[in-house]
This record gives sequence, structure tokens and C-alpha cells, in this order.
Amino acid sequence: MDALQDFNLHLQHELDELEANGLLRSLVLPDSLIDFSSNDYLGFSRSASLTVIEKELRHGATGSRSISGNCKEAEEAEQKVAAFHGYEAALIFNSGYAANVGLFSCIASRGDTFISDEYIHASTIDGMRLSHAHRVKFKHNNLQDLELKLNEAVGTKFVSIESIYSMDGDEAPLVAISSLCKKYNALLIVDEAHALGVFGDKGDGLVCKYNLQDEVLACIYTFGKAAGLHGAAVAGNASMRKFLINKARSFIYSTAMPPPMYEQIKLAYDLLPTASRGKLFELITYFKNQARSLSAIEFLKSDSPIQGVVIGDNLKAKAMAQHLNTNGFFIRAILSPTVPVGKERLRICLHEFNSKQEIDELMSQIKIFLK
Ligand SMILES: Cc1ncc(COP(=O)(O)O)c(C=O)c1O
Repeated sequence: MDALQDFNLHLQHELDELEANGLLRSLVLPDSLIDFSSNDYLGFSRSASLTVIEKELRHGATGSRSISGNCKEAEEAEQKVAAFHGYEAALIFNSGYAANVGLFSCIASRGDTFISDEYIHASTIDGMRLSHAHRVKFKHNNLQDLELKLNEAVGTKFVSIESIYSMDGDEAPLVAISSLCKKYNALLIVDEAHALGVFGDKGDGLVCKYNLQDEVLACIYTFGKAAGLHGAAVAGNASMRKFLINKARSFIYSTAMPPPMYEQIKLAYDLLPTASRGKLFELITYFKNQARSLSAIEFLKSDSPIQGVVIGDNLKAKAMAQHLNTNGFFIRAILSPTVPVGKERLRICLHEFNSKQEIDELMSQIKIFLK
């Protein structure tokens, strides 16, 4: 057998193992199902107001921002994002993944320590792995454990959290964490991926809601969720922006986003203050009330659009998602190891375009599956 055949067998073996454990991922084409899955909380991805018909804008950036890919639209969008959230500056990356990998891989030096919530997103984990700093986790949203880890940490200390956790939908105790960071001279980095557009008076997120901009080193705002677009910004002071332009490899060594995308980001930020958050929160309250009638299963505690139904088993979670898909709902199962073993779940996302009737139908289908 030659090396190629041999390696193909190896790949197939790995895939078979994933399948046997119910962990094989596959891509599905979007269907006309009722969306209880996407991160498009405000329906912006469908909004005609974000359509950009600009004859003079290039289709592609033609290079990285540091070479030929910079444009005035990018810089305007960055200034708009920074001002909206009350920061001095912002730098736009091609995605939230690229932003976190870029930031975390370059911000700490050998001998420093990252202390991150155990549920932190994979993009942050990957960024930290690329750095030479120590990495420790603290128990999810647990202030005592964070304090313990802050006490033990060496070098410059960086605390990394999400304001709303992507898989559980719960909120970090931001104000208390910020105070602890102050007490231990640690630098706080907040990923606002799932808070942007949803929380804060203008949809400006939780750091703004609690007026903590001066207490955090950097905030990550991703545009692929409530903003309905693509890309992400790291907001902070002007030195942070300059530093990332010089050190963040995912920024330096990648073709920039196409110019029309920056125009769309500007439009999305114009829309954010008046988006229909009221309707979204009404649906969240309605969903939670309906969920109480389903005492047989565990719903995760969350006041955000991300609601979790814990099934506790990969195969059962997949079967339940399949049942809901067959009955018209677009919902995906989230399996271990993405979530801890025993916490396998359905991740249900609510949107301002959903209706109470859709929630009622969803609950009845969950009941039918459980029977
Ligand atoms: C908390 C968090 N940070 C970062 C990302 C990555 O963002 P993007 O999808 O723009 O790469 C995600 C996406 O799932 C996320 O949930």
C-alpha cells in the first residue's frame, strides 16, 4: 500500500470513530425551516437596509490591510465602532475567530498568565495556545475560583471572559469580575460576541451597559451574529490598535475583507440603536415561561436569546434535533466535547422575527419527542 492509500485509510478510520460516537459533523444546506438556530438575533442578515450598492467600491481588498488592502471605508467603520462603544480606537479583523486568535496570541509574553473562564470560546483558546504565556482556567462564572487563580498567577495577568456565553447564554458577573481584576492588578478582556446588538440601551453590549470601558483592556465585537454580517473588531485604546496592526498575525498575514463589508458594518451600527430588542426580550420571557411547563427536562438558566435544553447524551440530543428538523424547526444539537460530557444539548436561539406561535409549536414537538 502506498503512503496516500495508507493515509486515506487513516482518515476513514478517524471518521468512522467519530460516527460511532455520534460526533461526526456534517454540513447542511439551509432549508425553509423555522430558524431557532442562527445567531441572527435581530434579523439583520435579512435586512434590506444593509444592502450596499456602491459602484466605485472594489469587490475585493486585493491584499492585507498592511499592504494594499486598506481603504477609507475600513478606517471609517473602525472609528464608528470605537465611538459607538466609547473607546478610543478599534481594529477590524476578518472574523471573530481571527480577532481572538490574533489578540490572544500576541498580547501576553512568556512568563505571563492567561486566566480564562472554562467555557471560553475555542477562538480564544486557540489564540492563547499560540502564545508563550501560562494558561489556567477558572470555574464558569465562579468568583471564588477566579480569585484563587488570580492569587496564584505569575507575570502580567490577563482575565478572559465572554459577557454572554455562546453555548449557555448566561451572563458573566462583569462588574464583580472587573473589581477583582482591579484588586489583583489584572487586565480584563471581554468577548461581547453575543451581547452586541442585544444588550445595552443602544445594543452596545454589556461593558457599555455597566460603563466599564475604562476598566477593560480590550473588547471583541463580532459582526456575524446580531449585526447579521461578518468580521469583528477589537476595541481599546490607540496603542492597542497600533500594537495589533504590528503584532497580530491573523491581521497581518490575511487578505482584508472586501470594502463593501465595511460599508455594511457602518450601516448595521446605524441600525443598532433602534433595533427591535423589545420584541426579542418579550419572546425570551415567553419562551422561559413556556419552558417551565416542561419540568421533565432541564432548561439552562439564561436571560439572553440563547436558550439551552440539556439532553445529556450525544445520540439522544442528535435524535431530538432530527425530530425537530423533521417537524419544521431549524435547531442543532451541541455535542460534547464542544460542551461538557453530560451537558449535551439543543441550543435554541430566539430572534425578533420568531413568533409566540412558533415557540408554542416548538414546545409541543419537544413534548412529543420526550413521550
Ligand atoms: C464568543 C465567541 N467569540 C468569537 C466567535 C467567533 O466569531 P466569528 O464567527 O465571527 O469567527 C464566536 C462564534 O461562534 C463566539 O461565539
